[in-house]
Amino acid sequence: MLDNSPENLIVEGKLADNERMKKASNYLRGTIAEDLQDPLTGGFTPDNFQLIRFHGMYQQDDRDIRGERADQKLEPLHNVMLRARMPGGIIQLSQWLTIEKFAEDHTMYGSVRLTTRQTFQFHGVLKPHIKDMHKVINSAGIDSIATAGDVNRNVLCTTNPVESELHAEAYEWSKKISEHLLPNTKAYAEIWLDGENAKTTKEPILGETYLPRKFKTTVSIPPNNEVDVHANDLNFVAIAEDGKLVGFNVLVGGGLAMTHGDTATYPRKADDFGFIPLEHTLAVAEHVVSVQRDWGNRVNRKNAKTKYTLDRVGVDPFKAEVEKRAGVTFEPSRPYEFTSRGDRFGWVEGMDGRQHLTLYILSGRILDFPNRPLKTGIRKIAELLQDVEGADFRMTANQNLVIAGVPAELKAEVESLAREHALLTEFDTPQLKNSMACVALPTCPLAMAEAERFLPDLVVDVEQILAKHGIPDDSIVLRVVGCPNGCGRAMLAEAGLVGKGPGKYNLYLGGNVVGTRVPKLHLENKSPEVILGELDRLIGLWSKEREEGECFGDYVIRTGVVAEVKVSKTDFHA
Ligand code: HEM
Ligand code: SF4
Repeated sequence: MLDNSPENLIVEGKLADNERMKKASNYLRGTIAEDLQDPLTGGFTPDNFQLIRFHGMYQQDDRDIRGERADQKLEPLHNVMLRARMPGGIIQLSQWLTIEKFAEDHTMYGSVRLTTRQTFQFHGVLKPHIKDMHKVINSAGIDSIATAGDVNRNVLCTTNPVESELHAEAYEWSKKISEHLLPNTKAYAEIWLDGENAKTTKEPILGETYLPRKFKTTVSIPPNNEVDVHANDLNFVAIAEDGKLVGFNVLVGGGLAMTHGDTATYPRKADDFGFIPLEHTLAVAEHVVSVQRDWGNRVNRKNAKTKYTLDRVGVDPFKAEVEKRAGVTFEPSRPYEFTSRGDRFGWVEGMDGRQHLTLYILSGRILDFPNRPLKTGIRKIAELLQDVEGADFRMTANQNLVIAGVPAELKAEVESLAREHALLTEFDTPQLKNSMACVALPTCPLAMAEAERFLPDLVVDVEQILAKHGIPDDSIVLRVVGCPNGCGRAMLAEAGLVGKGPGKYNLYLGGNVVGTRVPKLHLENKSPEVILGELDRLIGLWSKEREEGECFGDYVIRTGVVAEVKVSKTDFHA
């Protein structure tokens, strides 16, 4: 029996240092403005290094050239990565043209990167360009408020351009939720846009010290689980009747990050709280956040996310507190089913007769590569459609791009631009389209092994294995991340590789195609060769012994290769 007296809902002890930093920051201002004036370093002081995340930036350096610079007695080449706030991943074509020009002119790598949470990132912006960057994106109607840090981050929404009316409603909710949960402080405008100093006296939802840890929210439209609900703290699953949205099933407490060797950390699926009609959406969003704000662990950041709060205080007490604060009662969940997570590549026609083209973008990296001038091609398509009402780009949670709302008369022209610029090719195989990697090296400071740069070779090897066993048109959900934080969602893959050290990975098996099961450790700290050898053996067995329609992840569980993770807290490390 859980003891739910109030004192047991709060973890006592010495607060994590980030809590001091947030409190001292005067609502996210810190001394960032002073740091910007300091010409002696390209970086920020330790507190501001953390604080700029709440404004959507991470300080980074190019790890490939760290050693070389140290030899020359130079500080690492500090720069920032910017992550925009784009609820539902929709970007207008004029906005696209603005951001790609900025990437071309003022970033070290020249790329626009589509992320696994439906937004874009600039990598490699040097300090003298940071303010300009914010001014440029803001002039196009884009900001980066709260896309990192201990706040509610970019809100996802299933892309679904086909059911345009239902999508439009769901998308509006993703925007409303995003805005409702934004910080109240005007620090962003003050620091980056030279806005007026507006004293912030209150953060009614997030509180003066913001949330204990990052918080992620989605709106999804079944049957597609593109957003991966179980990777997120708070999920609104759209329930429609006759094509109209009537409310949401609310799922709370998903999350994937863990720390190698720390069994108190684990990836965890979200729990189903029940159904709510539309009018309660913002109150429920606000109070799932406020309960996590008050009950989340502020002593140990490794156990601070909503998933651990639920496991500590119990799902029922957490849910009851949300009901009490929001003044709602969750109804029994309405039936729904997820049947896929992938994107629908190529052309589809929407219910409104508009044409939509989904392009596969390897690791979301939009750049002009040799023989693959992707960035130029996308720019030309944006220019062509710029004045067409209802045309836009949609970034999917699988890092791909939908050219949406193309009128039938422009379809052929869009297609030929896509083909001329290698945006549509015959080489994008089923396995490639079912694979994902996080950024990792050279920019991510936490990467222990390669991910994005290693993925193409790995996919070719897995394709060869599939072909060798006579199933070249099959594929498995394959994901690689450079460390156990999980940005590329490997902890919801059928086969997930998690970086352990240079050239070494853990192999996790047993997730499923729709993303409703966490995989389990199968091999530890092994080279790609060893991992591929094991995949060869298991895929060979699967090809012969699988039952009709049985996916690889289900097969390895049925045959006892790995045990099923039913309850992460007890099963994941068992
Ligand atoms: C403790 C946990 C985590 C930490 C400390 C962390 C940190 C980071 C850092 C430093 C980057 C920047 C890498 C770069 O662009 O160079 C990044 C990227 C990213 N992270 Fe995380 N992350 C964590 C967990 C997660 C999880 C669980 C998800 C999603 C379920 C996620 C989603 C993303 C996304 C979408 C990006 C953008 C790059 C991409 O598409 O892979 N992160 N993260
Ligand atoms: S999973 Fe790890 S290595 Fe990959 S981007 Fe996230 S923090 Fe970096």
